[in-house]
Amino acid sequence: MMTRRNFTLTACAFGLSGTGTLCADSAAPDERPVVRFGVMTDSHFGDLDSTRPPHEVRAFRESARKLREFVDTMNSSKVDFIVELGDFVEHHPSKEKSLASLERIEREFSRFNGPRYHVLGNHDLSAIPREEFVRHTANAGEAKGRAHYSFEKNTVTFIVLDHGYFADGVPMGPGRTDWTKGHLSVEQWRWLDGVLAAAKGKVIVFSHWRLDPMGHGGLTALDADRMREVFKKSGKVVASFAGHHHYGDYMNIDGIGYYCLKAMCTGSGTENNSYAEVSVYPSGKVQVTGFRRAESKIWTP
Ligand SMILES: [Fe+2]
Repeated sequence: MMTRRNFTLTACAFGLSGTGTLCADSAAPDERPVVRFGVMTDSHFGDLDSTRPPHEVRAFRESARKLREFVDTMNSSKVDFIVELGDFVEHHPSKEKSLASLERIEREFSRFNGPRYHVLGNHDLSAIPREEFVRHTANAGEAKGRAHYSFEKNTVTFIVLDHGYFADGVPMGPGRTDWTKGHLSVEQWRWLDGVLAAAKGKVIVFSHWRLDPMGHGGLTALDADRMREVFKKSGKVVASFAGHHHYGDYMNIDGIGYYCLKAMCTGSGTENNSYAEVSVYPSGKVQVTGFRRAESKIWTP
């Protein structure tokens, strides 16, 4: 028999939510989320003409309007924070125009009434040096001015990774980026081990490159195999959220959900927006409520 609770879970699992209100009811009455956040990725914002079929349509200019909808929705939902998973801007041949794009899209992002966080993507680094990107964006609290960092909300530790390095440790930047070669710096690897060891509760990881093994052709970070082993060994990681692969994907490995969110820039028109609200429960259960084209998912460690 299809009860209301079963129906809402089924609707979420098959991405039928649309507005998010349907899935908001699906928490068991005795289990409230310990943290809720909004997530979007790959806005590629820029004053540039859209790319056309047969390739992916990237509606660069429309991302400002799409991002406004995301922020309005998250303000109404009163989530604890919002995060963007990289490729915030599309690189423009003129650095000044790239910076103007970043300032414009950051203005939209900063309309959120709460903490905001950024992840660096390869297109961000093609457009703007790392130091200037972090100076023109405002991460909350101690994450301000940093490209990789961690923060804690209600017992959950969030780790933000910067895969904008080559395997030999050389940092990516304008004139030297490669979307197929994302890797952490040596210093970040040491730092990551320390953060995982110190985390007292569940851990959620944000990165631009995918960390599951299915992002062929460089859509997965080069050091992702090692990373998944570390995640598994920690026994604390419950989710990895990534962008980079514009068509999105999901897989569960060892009870950890690897969720790749569809790009905001793909396709023209409001209906082609993509973003999600995520609820994390005390048990480590994660519920993703997808909006517009984004998929909804629920998993339990
Ligand atoms: Fe992208």
